Amino acid sequence: MRFLDPIVNSNDITYNKILFICKLYHIFEKDLSNMNVKEHYDTHLGNFYSWMVGDFDLKQKEQQNYFISHNLTVSDTGIALDLGAGHGLQSVSLAKIGFKVIAIDFNEQLLSELKVNILDLPVEIVCDDIKFVRKYAKANPELIVCAGDTITHLADKNEIEQFIKDCAGILKKNGKLLFSFRDYSHALTGDNRFIPVKSDETKILTCCLDYFEDRLLVTDLLHVKTDAGWQQRVSSYSKTRINESSIIELLENIGFNILVNETVNRMNTVIAQKLV
Ligand SMILES: C[S@@+](CC[C@H](N)C(=O)[O-])C[C@H]1O[C@@H](n2cnc3c(N)ncnc32)[C@H](O)[C@@H]1O
Repeated sequence: MRFLDPIVNSNDITYNKILFICKLYHIFEKDLSNMNVKEHYDTHLGNFYSWMVGDFDLKQKEQQNYFISHNLTVSDTGIALDLGAGHGLQSVSLAKIGFKVIAIDFNEQLLSELKVNILDLPVEIVCDDIKFVRKYAKANPELIVCAGDTITHLADKNEIEQFIKDCAGILKKNGKLLFSFRDYSHALTGDNRFIPVKSDETKILTCCLDYFEDRLLVTDLLHVKTDAGWQQRVSSYSKTRINESSIIELLENIGFNILVNETVNRMNTVIAQKLV
């Protein structure tokens, strides 16, 4: 026994170390999955999102031209849902080409900017979580748009699958769905994880990406010039790692025909039509 004791002890230490690392990993994973997207937008990104995007009129016209050139025009009920509408690039564009739009987002700052951007266009603004899209079935949408990488903000692949099923459930027959999203299958490593997003005389925005198996941690690092000098403001949130082929597969399995699958401004853009 005396001979075995040290071995048992050293195994215990190794075992305890492993247990400790597993617990840490579990806690970290848990924190990561709970990282609150809404809180990130409410306390941080929502305050400078429109600055980050740049010239609204220019981007809005580009979006409008894209919808027209891809036949996303009124053909049935004339109702479009814009999920994760932000400050309105897609909502304004859809309304300008004749849709009555229901713009849904959970960030009040961006919705207040959307309200200014829509002027007197037919856009109904709703502050809600897009996970509850089924609530909007009675509107009979012929088009659902979820653009600007919003779909990756959903908690995980299961939630994305459920979201697509719910969209399918409320779309009119032959209705169309547009998703634009980033393909995060290729993990950035080392210095490449730091992406300079935008800067001017008073602000510098850097995005840092940390990749995990099924998700990535996005840290938006903003430096703001104040009277007291440069201030750093930091907030992180979690995105789901998806890739183009898994979204296409999901859409096809759920009963969509893929009409367009292309890259526009470094975003995968998929337009699909509901078959039945
Ligand atoms: C990357 S922005 C895209 C905004 C806009 N579609 C565009 O292209 O500029 C994502 C938007 O989705 C909203 N969002 C993210 N997850 C959401 C959720 N679960 N429910 C409602 N809005 C959500 C955010 O508040 C934000 O306005």
